[in-house]
Amino acid sequence: MEVVLTGGAGFLGRKLSEALLAGGTLAGPGGDGQPITRIVCIDQVKPAHPLEGVNYVCGDICDGSVLEQAIGDDTASVFHLAAVVSGQAEADFDLGMRVNLDATRALLERCRRLPNPPRFIFASSVAAFGVAPPVVDDDTPVRPLNSYGAAKVIGEYLVGEYARRGWIDGRCFRLPTIVIRPGAPNRAASSFASSILREPLRGKKAVCPVGKDLPIWIQSPRTVIANLILGHDLPPEAWEEGLRVLNLPGLTVTVSQMVAGLERAGGDSGLISWVPDAAIEAIVGAWPRGMKTPRADKLGFQPDTGIDAIIGVFQEDETGLGGGQQ
Ligand SMILES: NC(=O)c1ccc[n+]([C@@H]2O[C@H](COP(=O)([O-])OP(=O)(O)OC[C@H]3O[C@@H](n4cnc5c(N)ncnc54)[C@H](O)[C@@H]3O)[C@@H](O)[C@H]2O)c1
Repeated sequence: MEVVLTGGAGFLGRKLSEALLAGGTLAGPGGDGQPITRIVCIDQVKPAHPLEGVNYVCGDICDGSVLEQAIGDDTASVFHLAAVVSGQAEADFDLGMRVNLDATRALLERCRRLPNPPRFIFASSVAAFGVAPPVVDDDTPVRPLNSYGAAKVIGEYLVGEYARRGWIDGRCFRLPTIVIRPGAPNRAASSFASSILREPLRGKKAVCPVGKDLPIWIQSPRTVIANLILGHDLPPEAWEEGLRVLNLPGLTVTVSQMVAGLERAGGDSGLISWVPDAAIEAIVGAWPRGMKTPRADKLGFQPDTGIDAIIGVFQEDETGLGGGQQ
C-alpha cells in the first residue's frame, strides 16, 4: 500500500515517516496489516536529512498539480500534517486560510477522485477549543478563538462530511501540544513549551513568554506518533456515526512543573529568561488546561506517564541527529 504524508518534512512528518519505515505495515481497507510499499512526503521545503526509502515531493499543497503528482490511484492512506502553525496563521489570515482550509479541501477533493476511498488522517489540535471550561471532555463544544483553531474545526467537519459520503475513511485527532520539539523554535504560539526545556538541556538560553502557573496539555512525539498509527489502524466500526473526531489523551503540566523536570534532568533553569508576551499568553492561555478523553481511552490511545518520561524521550531520540531536521 502507498502512504502519503503532507508536511512530511516537518517535525511530526519526519517522526511518522521514521515510524512507518520501522513498522513496515499499516491496516489496509479490509483491516488486515498490509506492507507499506511506498511512502510519499509532500512538503514545501526539502528535508535537511532525507530518509532513505521515502519519496519526497517538494511543492505547495495549495497547488493542485503537486497533489496530482503525489497522490495516485494506489494511494491507500493520507496523513494530512501540513499546516501554517498558530502564531503565523494569526499574523497572516490569508496564508492561514489558504493552507489550513483551502488546501485541506483540495486534498480531500483529490482523495475523492481515487478509485478506492483512502484512510485520511487529519492532525487537528486542542486549539479547536477556545472558549471552554478549564477541563474539557469529549462532548465540550468547540469554540475556537484564533484563525488556526477555526481552520482546524472546519477541516474536521469537512473530513466528517467526505467520510459520510464514503469518499474517504476519515479520522481527525485533536493533538495536545507536542513536547519536546527538536530543532529551532517555530512560529507556533506554544513553541516556548519545547524551547524552555530543549535549549537549557543543550546549555543554551531560552525565553519563556508565559507565567509559571500556566498549565499546558502535552504529549511526547513518540506517543503522538503511536497514537496516530493506532488511529489509522482502527476499524471503521470503531467510530460512532457522524463522529470522526477524537481528543487525544495527554498530560497536564504547569510551566513550573516543566522547569522542575528540566532541573531533575540536569538542565539549568537559570538559562530561562521570563519575558511576558501578551499575544502568546492570549492564544495559549485559551487552550484547555486538561481534558477527559474517555472515548480515546476506551479505544486504547495512551498518554505519557509524566514530564520526566517526556524529557527522557527527547534525550533518547534526539542525541544522534541533534534534532535539527528542519
Ligand atoms: N506539534 C504540535 O505541538 C502540534 C499540536 C497540535 C496539532 N499539530 C498539528 O500537527 C501537524 C504537524 O505539526 P508539526 O509540529 O509537525 O508542524 P511543522 O510546522 O513542523 O510541519 C508542518 C510542515 O508543513 C509544511 N507546510 C506548511 N505549509 C505547506 C504548504 N503550503 N505546502 C506544503 N507543505 C507545507 C511545512 O513546511 C512543515 O514542514 C500540523 O497540522 C499541526 O497543526 C501539531
